[in-house]
Amino acid sequence: MQDTPGTVAVLATGGTIAGTAASATDNIGYSAAQLGVQALVDAVPALAGVPLVTEQVAQLDSKDMDFAVWATLAARVAHQLAQPGITGVVITHGTDTLEETAYVLQRLLAPAKPVVLAAAMRPATALLRDGPQNLLDAVTLAREPGARGVMAALAGTVHSALDVRKQHSYRVDAFGSGDAGPLARIEEGRVRRLREWPAGEPLGLDCIAKGEWPWVELVTSHAGARPDGVRALVAAGVKGLVVAGTGNGSLHHALEAALIEAQAAGVTVWRTTRCLDGPVQATPADQLPSAGTLTPVQARIELMLQLMRT
Ligand code: SIN
Repeated sequence: MQDTPGTVAVLATGGTIAGTAASATDNIGYSAAQLGVQALVDAVPALAGVPLVTEQVAQLDSKDMDFAVWATLAARVAHQLAQPGITGVVITHGTDTLEETAYVLQRLLAPAKPVVLAAAMRPATALLRDGPQNLLDAVTLAREPGARGVMAALAGTVHSALDVRKQHSYRVDAFGSGDAGPLARIEEGRVRRLREWPAGEPLGLDCIAKGEWPWVELVTSHAGARPDGVRALVAAGVKGLVVAGTGNGSLHHALEAALIEAQAAGVTVWRTTRCLDGPVQATPADQLPSAGTLTPVQARIELMLQLMRT
């Protein structure tokens, strides 16, 4: 059956947006991923006249996101985007790893239609629940003429998948876009675009078809850093290491020595910064390459994808 033109596919994966607590004043002692996709849609009366198709792709707390769910989700998003009547896709997701899912989907699919992640910092039972408005905004963006790429619509702000990051553990307005700044605002059901939609060449789903994601770990440089952890990872067979350095990606000398050893042993090592914003500027003297503007978690995904392709 053909979808009505302008239909949005809503794919649910769980998260606080689908979470419930025993009390309306409990914003932290709740269980994530309890309500199904239809309940989320039904909680937004303004969606009543909007053509939607819904799908429950997963039901998890996003701290437990894994490669199998990513593969299923990417395949379902690609399937929905290929339907002529589908104007865009909305993914309901937990906030905790939203930036990772957004990044991997943009790199794999770089879609020519909008794919919008929606989430919430308060469960569906809270007095001040943010999920319904965020879902409505995400559907609005998914129907915006000319919109494209993977984005997140949260607290009235649209972030590109290439920049979005969770930067507050509790506030309702918890997300930012770093130096790049937000992509758009959604105000009273209207999208006010501030810069270009996310773009790029898609890597394609073949990249992950084998389902074997290489082992890439994150390590951090800090006062008193020791080399032992990196040596243990190399001995255990790690394929890649992303280090979150201080400032412009500088590293404690003991950790740096172990990372240079790891690189010499065939492990790919990339430097990022543990600063909340800003790139690692490369210099000709670098022994370990910079991951540029990628955050540590983005760099880890990028490195896994790169290793899978080679
Ligand atoms: C989750 O990430 O699934 C739980 C936390 C949240 O959505 O805010």
